[in-house]
Amino acid sequence: MLQNLPTNVAEEGAELSSAIDAVVARHGAKRSALLPILQDILAERGEISYLAMQMVADRLGAAPSEVQGVVTFYSFLEVETRGRHVIRLCRTLSCMMAGTRDVGAALEAELGIPFGGTTADGMFTLEWANCIGMCCTPPALLADAEALGEVTPAQVGEVIGALRAANVRE
Ligand code: FES
Repeated sequence: MLQNLPTNVAEEGAELSSAIDAVVARHGAKRSALLPILQDILAERGEISYLAMQMVADRLGAAPSEVQGVVTFYSFLEVETRGRHVIRLCRTLSCMMAGTRDVGAALEAELGIPFGGTTADGMFTLEWANCIGMCCTPPALLADAEALGEVTPAQVGEVIGALRAANVRE
């Protein structure tokens, strides 16, 4: 499954796979052990990634949706570590045609992380989103709960600055 991935991704996957094997061995590869397995993965890794859910499902002979259902039902089982501020950039058609890629590149450059990543200080996470209902003013993003439209690459610094300033005021 991992053979076509870049080396570092494959290595991460192999390391995660071994860690999950160890947790499953501790609790037994049975569905009744799903919750303690997920709790241990969270305790050891600080997150339960989608890849981890897939691997757990494989080990227990369960459907990935079943594992994901348990993770999302128990709100204390955080899916992926997120920063204090989450910026979600729409990548649906109207926004893509209006320049999402350029805005995305500017966000990555400004924060020094790729989409799906979180800054080392835990302050910002970048995520892709599907249509956020701002199709009449593309490209659009959500800066935490605030929807912004017609965002240009030049405005990205301002958006990040406003979120940083919000921290100072808090
Ligand atoms: S397509 Fe981007 S907000 Fe709808």
